[in-house]
Amino acid sequence: MKLKILITAGDGIGPEVTNEAVSVLKEVAQLGGHTLALDHKRIGGVAIVNDGSPLPADTLAAALDSDAVLLGAVGGNEFNSLPPDKRPEAGLLQLRAALGGFANLRPAFAFKELAVNSPLRPEIIDGADILFVRELLGGLYFGQPREWNKATNEAWNTMRYTKDEVARVARIAFQLAGKRRKKLTSVDKANVLEVSQLWRATVNEIAKEFPEIAVEHQYVDAMSMHLMNQPKNYDVVLTENLFGDILSDESAVITGSLGMLPSATIGGKVNLYEPVHGSAPDIAGKGLANPLGAILTGALILRHSGGLEAEAATIETSVRKVLEQGFRTPDLARSNPQGFTVLSTTEMGAKVRETVKASLVNA
Ligand code: NAD
Ligand code: IPM
Ligand code: MN
Repeated sequence: MKLKILITAGDGIGPEVTNEAVSVLKEVAQLGGHTLALDHKRIGGVAIVNDGSPLPADTLAAALDSDAVLLGAVGGNEFNSLPPDKRPEAGLLQLRAALGGFANLRPAFAFKELAVNSPLRPEIIDGADILFVRELLGGLYFGQPREWNKATNEAWNTMRYTKDEVARVARIAFQLAGKRRKKLTSVDKANVLEVSQLWRATVNEIAKEFPEIAVEHQYVDAMSMHLMNQPKNYDVVLTENLFGDILSDESAVITGSLGMLPSATIGGKVNLYEPVHGSAPDIAGKGLANPLGAILTGALILRHSGGLEAEAATIETSVRKVLEQGFRTPDLARSNPQGFTVLSTTEMGAKVRETVKASLVNA
C-alpha cells in the first residue's frame, strides 16, 4: 500500500508531537512493506513569518494533491492582536474548507491506566468511550455576515446551517453509531436558536433511515454537565462546529489529558488529521508535550485513509502497553503516586515506536 501524506507541523508543540507521530508511522510502514510518500509544508504562524500568509499557495496545492494531511497545531501568542482572518488559525480554517471534510471525528477513549490523572472518580470514567462527530465547515466559524465594526462598537458572527449540511454530517454519525453501541446523542440549543431547531428536525428526519439506532437530544448546557457526571452514558455525540469544539476539549477531563485526543476529518476531497489540542505555547520547546494524541491521530490515518485496520489497532494497543508499563509524559503524571517513569516528548515517541516494532515483529 502506498500513501501520500502531507505533513503540516505548524507552530509551538505542533512540530514536536508531529515528529513522533511520523516516526511511528514510518516504523509501521517499514515493517509492513508499505510506502509512505511524505512531504512537509508550512502552515500557521511559521508560514505568516516566512511566506506572509497562514496558508501559502504551495501548502494548499500539496494538500490537495495528497491522500491525507497530518496537521500538528497552529497559533502563538505573538499573533494574538491580529484580526481573525490574518491569524495562524485562519490558515487552518482555510485548509479545512479547501479539503472539504465536514465530519470531524474526535474519539475520547478513557485508558484505565490514566484514571488516576483525572479529577473524576475512576468508577465514573472507567470504560468511557465516546465518539464526538463535530460538524466542521459550518456554524459560527464560517457564517456570513461577520464583522467587528469599530465605529459603532458592535461585532457579530452568524451561526448558519443549511438542511443539507446537517443531513450529511448526521448520516455519517448514524453510520458510525451502527458500527458501535447504536446510540446517538445530538447536542444543540433548540430551546433558544432557530439554527438548532433546524438541526434537531433534520437529525430526526435522518434518524428514520436508521431505525436500529437509539436517538436522544440534549441541550448543550446540560450536556456539558452530563458528560462529566456520566460519560459512560454516551456513544456517538453529534453536534455543530462550536459546541463540538468546546465539548471535545471538555472530554480531556475524562481521558486524563488534552494531549491524548486524536481526530480525523472525513467526507471531503482529502482527509485531514489533527490532534485535538493546540500549539500549547506554555510548554513549547521544552520536550514536555505529550505526543500520544498525535500518534493516535497517525493510527486514524492508517484506518481511514490507508484501510490498514490491523496496523491502526497495533498503534493503539502499543499506546496502551506503554501506559501499562508506567511510562508517562508530565501532563499524565500530575500526581505521581505510583512512581511513574516520566518521559520527554521524544522518549515517549521512542517507547511507542519500540513497542509497535516488537508487536509487528512478533505478529
Ligand atoms: P492548547 O490546546 O494549546 O493548550 C491548552 C492547555 O493544554 C495548555 O496548558 C497546554 O500546555 C496543554 N496541552 C495541550 N496539548 C498538550 C500536549 N500535547 N501535551 C501536554 N499538554 C498539552 O490551547 P490554548 O492554550 O487555548 O491555545 C494555544 C494556541 O493553540 C492558540 O493560538 C489556539 O488558537 C491554538 N489552537 C490550535 C489548534 C489546532 O491547530 N488544531 C487547536 C486548539 C488551539
Ligand atoms: C480545534 C481548534 C480550532 C477550532 C482553532 C484553532 C481554529 O480549537 O481544532 O479544536 O476551533 O476548530
Ligand atoms: Mn479546539
